[in-house]
Amino acid sequence: LFAGLTRQPPDALLAVIGMHRADPRPHKIDVGVGMYRDESGATPVMRAVKAAEERLLKHQDSKGYLGAEGDQRYTDLLARLALGTKLAESDRLTGVQTPGGTGALRLAAELTARSGRAPTVWIGTPTWPNHVPIFLAAGLAVETHAYFDADRSGVDMDGCLAALSRARAGDIVVLHGCCHNPTGARLTAEQWTALADLIAARGLVPLIDLAYQGLGQGLDADAAGMRLLLNAVPEAMVAYSCDKNFALYRERVGALWIQAATPSAVMPVRDALLMLARWIWSMPPDHGAAIVRTILEDDNLTQSWLTELSDMRARIAAIRASLGEAHPVLAHIAQQEGLFALLPIDKTAVASLRDRHAIYMPDSGRINVAGLNSVSVKHFAEAVMPYL
Ligand code: LMR
Repeated sequence: LFAGLTRQPPDALLAVIGMHRADPRPHKIDVGVGMYRDESGATPVMRAVKAAEERLLKHQDSKGYLGAEGDQRYTDLLARLALGTKLAESDRLTGVQTPGGTGALRLAAELTARSGRAPTVWIGTPTWPNHVPIFLAAGLAVETHAYFDADRSGVDMDGCLAALSRARAGDIVVLHGCCHNPTGARLTAEQWTALADLIAARGLVPLIDLAYQGLGQGLDADAAGMRLLLNAVPEAMVAYSCDKNFALYRERVGALWIQAATPSAVMPVRDALLMLARWIWSMPPDHGAAIVRTILEDDNLTQSWLTELSDMRARIAAIRASLGEAHPVLAHIAQQEGLFALLPIDKTAVASLRDRHAIYMPDSGRINVAGLNSVSVKHFAEAVMPYL
């Protein structure tokens, strides 16, 4: 049975974790996988998360099954945070808890595959390396198109609109809600409007991947473009991750919401979601979602979480500003948002930075700016400069 399997290259992003870990050099820098780090390089458990865990430990009286939908109150409270009250309470919306944002994307892909249509999934490049394989693995056709103009270090809106004007009604358009991974390039309100107009006019279905809400400009600002889009179209999907904004990475906390065209279309969608979830993971893990629910149910915990999230956002912005000042070629980094920026360097330069300076990033030249601190940012900029 297994003799036909061949060796596969390790996941390029996850491999960086292992390489960095194995490097004994004390000054090593990890700007690889997308995790927030504080000034000391740690990825701490957030204060509100610790407090919520203490409450759960004390008061949780059962580990009984919840069902394929997971913790529905978590999903509903999170919907208000992500989508805003009006969209969250719409009778055209349904949502389920998923194992992380990846689980949400895979469930969205499986739902699409079961729709009885054969839509193409349109994905702008560069993108998170896991996006394309997730849709291919669900048997969907994927078409990639330009999204980022490396020469201008900005969004290639003309290229994007031109590509999407070739899409057919019912095709899926994958968009990053905020904090674009890997470029950090932000869509302006006008660009969101232009996209929404085209998507609505052509009958396309947006799938928004919102994995960094609150780490760009702020919770509502980071969701504004997505909300505008959802208001403009009959059908949409939103894949959400609490990995970064609640720093719950390994707990695998996500959600998928589907906006149906009519209230009567909601229950068949929900039935399909529950059935597919049951087949794939049966029920999502509870602990992380219970933490988020506990925080969102309590004003004090919510306030503590918001304060810490805003401190994280401010630190990211400060590092971005330092990088922007370090070299004209990096100036765009100060204008962009979130954890990631794309350095205009090739993989030979990436390997050389690793060997000579113990700086770890994936071959794409993407950096997690939160891997730097106020001291290492200078060393980093000096090391990178000869390659720019
Ligand atoms: C990243 O892009 O580094 C993160 O989203 C982590 C991951 O799962 O790849």
